[in-house]
Amino acid sequence: MAKNSVTFSCSNCGHSSVRWLGCCPSCNEWNSFIEEKSQALPSSSAKKGLNRSVVAETVELYPLKDIKFSEQGRMLSGIKEWDTVLGNGIMPGSLLVLTGDPGIGKSTLLLHVAHKLAQNYSVFYFSSEESLEQVKLRAMRIQSMNDKLLFSDRANIESIIQTAQERKPDIIIIDSIQNCFFSETQTFPGTVGQLRETSFALMRLAKEHNIAVIITCHITKEGHMAGPKTLEHMVDGVFYLQGEDRWHTRILRSVKNRFGALHELGFFSMTENGLEEVPHINQYLLQETTDAPGAVLMSSLEGSRPLLLEVQALIILAKFGVPQRVITGLDHKRVVLIAAILEKYLHIKFSAHDIFVKVSGGIKVTESSSDLAIALALLSSYFQQALPEKSMALAEISLTGALRPINGIETQLKEAQKFGIKTIFVAQGQKTTATGAVKFSSVYQLLELFTEVPQ
Ligand code: TYD
Ligand code: MG
Repeated sequence: MAKNSVTFSCSNCGHSSVRWLGCCPSCNEWNSFIEEKSQALPSSSAKKGLNRSVVAETVELYPLKDIKFSEQGRMLSGIKEWDTVLGNGIMPGSLLVLTGDPGIGKSTLLLHVAHKLAQNYSVFYFSSEESLEQVKLRAMRIQSMNDKLLFSDRANIESIIQTAQERKPDIIIIDSIQNCFFSETQTFPGTVGQLRETSFALMRLAKEHNIAVIITCHITKEGHMAGPKTLEHMVDGVFYLQGEDRWHTRILRSVKNRFGALHELGFFSMTENGLEEVPHINQYLLQETTDAPGAVLMSSLEGSRPLLLEVQALIILAKFGVPQRVITGLDHKRVVLIAAILEKYLHIKFSAHDIFVKVSGGIKVTESSSDLAIALALLSSYFQQALPEKSMALAEISLTGALRPINGIETQLKEAQKFGIKTIFVAQGQKTTATGAVKFSSVYQLLELFTEVPQ
């Protein structure tokens, strides 16, 4: 008889414990522990090799030269933003997770991708979350009707695996994994245990039968259902679909990719007829720029793509006791540090002012090359004087106030010049062939740009 025992698992990261914990020691999430009855698999399923082998045996070991290797081509969909983020298409036999908030557009994106892929590959779409009629309605809406693409609404993972093993498609899509279940595990779909077991079985399927498996997994806010963090360690790639409501933009971001670059971004726009690619994102981003006091352009290299972003600052005298620092899209500590450097060397009393800083386009910048743009935005707002029209800044600032060059800015500068950026503020030591480069060696020289009397 199968042996049952009770464990508690964190629904955020999957950490398990023999007793309930208020705060997860692994991911520090509160109230995320849920009780799970774990059940040992009956020996019949172990024999079938469903997901684990119980027989210990001496294994064969091989030198690398004896391991067979086929130069497998990536499966390209033709949707460039998707293919690039995945590392130039889908690697056969890989297990990938597409995650994001409910309603962000995961199913819509996958339907577009599956529709295109089905022209050259056999694709099975298991829509456990929506009925087949709902899927058909969506496919009609986004004009993605393709007879080669096959659908099922089954959620039972044993049946899905059996079907895939028999019919050997190139790709299967499971939308969503939180609705799928192993009939032998006596817990609800979406629990940490079910999520782990179903994903593990799909990983075996992907590797042993060379079938690419794409699963969707919602980000969960409450602890009732396990989230994508539970799966991150066992899959080949994790892709987040995020929203920026201003232009109905959807950003596809790779946070883990065994077969491609990290932090690669893809841009889409949610329209009446589904997701459309936005290949010229900088054009969108630059539409918003103003050349007003407090605004400076910078460039951030996201994966292989340079993005042209505007850093905006607003400095006003603090009216209440502790001055406010409200910062979005940039590292809070970095902005506070730059303000402190300027206060120390230029004797500007930022400590008596409220500081508001944001980055356009809802994109988060972490690079230290943004230092100079932050400094110039703060100064430009403080002096209430705009910088020269279409100017961009790219340099790191050290604690001594010296400006430091940054590596490999040529791609960024080339992109900037494509969009008519005229002046580029860089560090003295920066090697560049770009025209319009204005070089500074320390923060003291930044004052040369401003002539107005401070507020
Ligand atoms: P969906 O792909 O179902 O999201 P997810 O799978 O991540 O839960 O997207 C649902 C949202 O997208 C819904 O709010 C309606 C919107 N939408 C459009 O605006 N245009 C479209 O063509 C489609 C199919 C959906
Ligand atoms: Mg969906």
